[in-house]
This record gives sequence, C-alpha cells and structure tokens, in this order.
Amino acid sequence: MIQDDYKQAAARESLRNIRGKQLIGIGTGSTVRYLIDEIGKNKNDFSNSFFVPTSTDTRNRLSENGLNIVEDFVGKAEISVDGCDEIDPIGNMIKGGGGALTREKMVAFSSQEMLIIADTGKSVNKLGKYGVPVEILPFLHQKTLERIGEYYKVELRENGKFRTDNGNLLALVHTGLMDKPELVLQQMKNIPGVVEVGIFMGFASESIICGENSCIRKKYNKGKKN
Ligand code: A5P
Repeated sequence: MIQDDYKQAAARESLRNIRGKQLIGIGTGSTVRYLIDEIGKNKNDFSNSFFVPTSTDTRNRLSENGLNIVEDFVGKAEISVDGCDEIDPIGNMIKGGGGALTREKMVAFSSQEMLIIADTGKSVNKLGKYGVPVEILPFLHQKTLERIGEYYKVELRENGKFRTDNGNLLALVHTGLMDKPELVLQQMKNIPGVVEVGIFMGFASESIICGENSCIRKKYNKGKKN
C-alpha cells in the first residue's frame, strides 16, 4: 500500500535526526514500527543509544531488533520520535489512535525535542475530523462517559473490550473540527476519571511528512505543553 511507502520514507528520513543521540523516546504505531526496523538495519550506528518505549508493542519491536531499552531515566531524553493521527499547520496534533497517548505524552514531555513522522494523509488544516482518543479509568467509567457526553458524542473502543497498556479504557470523543482545541483539552482534562486526552499542543518541534514525490521537513515553535 502506497501510504505505507510514505510512512517508511518518513521513518528512514528521521534517522539523521537521531543518529548519535544517547536517549531517544520512541512512540507507537505503524509508522514507528517502520522506524524501529530502520534503526535495526543500522544497528551499529545505535550501539550507544538507549530507547524509551511508549507501549508494549514498541518495546517488543525494539527488543526483536536487538536495541537497548530503558524504561526510566533522570533528566530529559534528547528527542522523542512518534507518529500522529492528525497534525495541523502549527504542529498541534491528535494522537492516541493506537491507545498509547498517555505514555506518548509523558515521554514527549520528558524530551527536549519531539519529531513527528507521518504520511501526507495526516496533515489537516483543523484538528478533529475523526475524533479525539481519550484514556479513561474503568472505575465508574459510565459516569465519566456521561460527563464527556454533556459536551460531545462519545463511544468506547471495541464497545469497552479494548484496554490500553495501562489497563484503562479508550474513548473516542467526536468533537468535530475544533476552532479552539486547547479549550476542548481543558474541558476533558477537568473531568475526574479522564487519564489523558489525545490533543497534543506545543509538543512537536519538527515534522517529516512524506507524500508522492518528496518528504517535507517543517519546524515548529514549541509552546506551552498540555
Ligand atoms: C498511538 O497511540 C498513536 O498516537 C499513533 O502515534 C498514531 O495513531 C499514528 O499511528 P500510525 O503511525 O499507525 O498511523
């Protein structure tokens, strides 16, 4: 599938951002799986690098490729690399379609830079078309869903059978296109039972977005993180 070629191209292109770095956060998803395989093919360049996985899937893939894994650290990682579900012109994103949003946000928050790798299908003018993934606690989750439902239509991934790596539920909140994603983020975060919201504002420092003929690099001003 051609979209997979674009993801792989973005993954390959990102290697030069991470070569020589010692502590590297690694996101989750199909684009990131290509990245891990590319790192694996260039293993000699990364013998002194340690990778912080954001999910079990990523940890397993790193391990299969014989790469160094570390799950806790002091200070900041030099960079984290991740995919996204949507990215707008100033680098704000929706993430968490794979359910790893909480760890992804924690690792990005603990990194000096966040590099996003994606295919052109992820570029949007406004965030929100497909909804916002929100991780919620199973405890009293119907109450949490009722509170979210006061604002937006909401559904549970796999009717509540899906569990995140943290043992929580994943809700998809249908916000529609958002004029002010920061307000939606605060609305959701204020609801007890919400663990994390898949709106990432002010995290991305650079993106590599690949399409039919080329990969485009773009830098962003990192702002206030939420
Ligand atoms: C995982 O929880 C997500 O945040 C992913 O980063 C996002 O869904 C992108 O995934 P793909 O690379 O599979 O499109």
